[in-house]
Amino acid sequence: MNISIIGVVGAGIMGSGIAQVAARAGFNVVMRDISDSFVSRGMTAIGKNMDREVQKNRLTREEADAVLNRVKGTTDLGDLAGCDFVIEAAVEQIELKKNIFRELDKFCRPGTIFASNTSGLSITEMAAASGRPAKFIGMHFFNPVPVMRLVELIKGAETDDSTYEAASDLAKKFGKEPIMVNEAPLFAVNRILVPMLNEAMFVLMEGVASAEDIDKGMVLGANHPMGPLALSDLIGLDTLLMVMETLYNETGDSKYRPCPLLRKKVRAGHLGRKTGRGFYEYESK
Ligand code: 3HC
Repeated sequence: MNISIIGVVGAGIMGSGIAQVAARAGFNVVMRDISDSFVSRGMTAIGKNMDREVQKNRLTREEADAVLNRVKGTTDLGDLAGCDFVIEAAVEQIELKKNIFRELDKFCRPGTIFASNTSGLSITEMAAASGRPAKFIGMHFFNPVPVMRLVELIKGAETDDSTYEAASDLAKKFGKEPIMVNEAPLFAVNRILVPMLNEAMFVLMEGVASAEDIDKGMVLGANHPMGPLALSDLIGLDTLLMVMETLYNETGDSKYRPCPLLRKKVRAGHLGRKTGRGFYEYESK
């Protein structure tokens, strides 16, 4: 399948990261969010990353500008009409995602593949709403997208082999390593990772150890690149709560109950790095 224009729905941490790796790989990208300020925040994030690539002599200024120029920001979903492959990275709400795919189905050609970057919601359910279940797949990137090498590819009940092959080829062109996962709540990696992060919050809430010592323990004692509480702040506590709730609701297993401390922080608006405060405080968002 010949793919040249990639649509990305959502210009947040994940959407802008996906747009960046796609543009860096030479694709033209249309990145859509619901407001101009969200779109420009995404463009600014890509611009900063390109500046760093220039500073580190990995790209010339001209090459970095060309990457940026390949990303067109928009608030109009209809601007994704010409895309060959659309990756959705909106917030983790199934009804919202289903509505996006219903709308996209009206604009995009029948052959255009739709992918969701959901952290764990049902691919089959979104695929059914998209009007093109055979051309629908889960394409789960990891934060920070430009750095993390994995992409989980999740087959829904009706995803066909050609869709899987196209997504796998695309992930490799983005410089990523795909793994194949069958649909299950939170897929494979988050099913293992997110309960560990949730458990670290219980350890903190119960006063077993301080945030700093929990993180130090997992960095020095388990060789993780960063501690679970710092990683939670990086991912975003609102996202983590929604992901944890998906696992709990889908399985009905009490071992997956979200930590009350996580819920409290989200209610207070302390969502991690993106708001400047989560388990830690940050000078720049
Ligand atoms: N965007 C782009 N590049 C970034 C970045 C970002 N947000 N953050 C760091 N980098 C780059 C740096 O520029 C640097 O690149 P270079 O070595 O080529 O110059 C490199 O990453 C290393 O960064 P630093 O030296 O600043 O810091 P660290 O060595 O501590 O690495 C880290 C930072 C890459 C974030 C590392 O701590 C790490 O791998 N942490 C774990 C991340 C992780 O587990 N992510 C998965 C989260 S789960 C998820 O996303 C799924 C979702 O569904 C919930």
